[in-house]
Amino acid sequence: MQAKFITIEGLEGAGKSNAQQVVSQVLQHHQIPFIHTREPGGTPIAEALRTLWKEGIGGEHTTDKAELLMLYAARTQLVESVIQPALESGKWVIGDRHDMSTLAYQGGGRGLDPDLIHTLRQAVLGDFAPDFTLYLDIPPEVGLARAKGRGALDRIEQQHIDFFHRTRTAYLQLVEASPNAVLINADQPIKQVSAEIQQAVENYLKFAIA
Ligand SMILES: Nc1ncnc2c1ncn2[C@@H]1O[C@H](COP(=O)(O)OP(=O)(O)OP(=O)(O)O)[C@@H](O)[C@H]1O
Ligand SMILES: [Mg+2]
Repeated sequence: MQAKFITIEGLEGAGKSNAQQVVSQVLQHHQIPFIHTREPGGTPIAEALRTLWKEGIGGEHTTDKAELLMLYAARTQLVESVIQPALESGKWVIGDRHDMSTLAYQGGGRGLDPDLIHTLRQAVLGDFAPDFTLYLDIPPEVGLARAKGRGALDRIEQQHIDFFHRTRTAYLQLVEASPNAVLINADQPIKQVSAEIQQAVENYLKFAIA
């Protein structure tokens, strides 16, 4: 069986880290080997780009287009040096965020030209795409309140609430248009959310392993 790339998407505090654990448990149960990744990041260079993007330097921050290029630089680095080699060696990959985040945040949230994003995406990633995506849907206010409970908010988390509403709207459209993505209502008790994620992955495995 070909190893698969499963990604987890959603706004801050949606429960992506929890979902990664739930997906891991399901794969372990089926004795499927896997690795975790997170984006942006997941290699030393990509992690450095993440820090540069989140923190800036000496008060200077990326412009919207520079942000887009930096995110694709980090993604390409991760795909070429970690994700593709893992998949080729038979290990599944469970990604905490991937390309749908850029389409939602930079496309929807920032309002960057969709043609620019798609041209760049096609040039660097080509046809490479996740096999299965879990999108954890949550009202931004709920997710940000959860993220706040965990500590100080970073630069992205401090964006105006409208930014997250636009991002969520874009996510919903992307999931609607993607046959490989499922929506999980993440605005429920964590036990319920985890049970629905487990069921969705089990359903996917029936299809993927068959
Ligand atoms: N369904 C839920 N109900 C209540 N709290 C939750 C739920 N899911 C996760 N949490 C809590 O909310 C916080 C954020 O969850 P988590 O870290 O999994 O989200 P995340 O999507 O990974 O966030 P980030 O985008 O910031 O990495 C954690 O403290 C977690 O325990
Ligand atoms: Mg997380």
